[in-house]
Amino acid sequence: MSALMEKTFHLVSDEKTRDFGAALATIMRAGDVFALHGGLGAGKTTLTRGLIQSLLGADEEVPSPTYTLVQIYETDAFPIWHFDLYRLESPEDLHELGWDETDQGVAILEWPDKSGDQLPAWRLDIHLEFDGDQRIVRLVPCGEDWQTRIDDFRF
Ligand SMILES: Nc1ncnc2c1ncn2[C@@H]1O[C@H](COP(=O)(O)OP(=O)(O)O)[C@@H](O)[C@H]1O
Ligand SMILES: [Mg+2]
Repeated sequence: MSALMEKTFHLVSDEKTRDFGAALATIMRAGDVFALHGGLGAGKTTLTRGLIQSLLGADEEVPSPTYTLVQIYETDAFPIWHFDLYRLESPEDLHELGWDETDQGVAILEWPDKSGDQLPAWRLDIHLEFDGDQRIVRLVPCGEDWQTRIDDFRF
């Protein structure tokens, strides 16, 4: 089996992070899981905001789900669940948040490690890292299908 290849992009501004989210929206399919890794302020919510607003319009409010833990958006194709698991106490609590319905749509997860063994093995890992004032984003495929989709992705 060949080694998985990740792709790295430089995001010079907040706007580029949102544009990057919008670019990811174009390759998204029902059943996808996007796991957003990175510390506080890395740009996880900003990227998700760009993704959702590219589908629903710039007027769509995309608040951080820090306290609600999840926000749901209805798009033409499927619902999108935006989770922020920072405050999740136990992976078991995910079932109360609609976790088991997310395979009907797309799940975008901030603080995915909090989901423990509930985190699907087949997913796209998106790592946001600081580069001075700017950001670096790395796409890491988890599962063969994701490798092909990442290979085809352009930004
Ligand atoms: N590429 C970038 N360059 C500079 N600032 C950025 C970039 N992307 C996002 N930001 C800023 O960094 C902060 C990220 O906040 P947020 O998206 O809430 O982070 P997180 O959800 O990871 O905690 C926001 O102030 C946003 O404007
Ligand atoms: Mg956030």
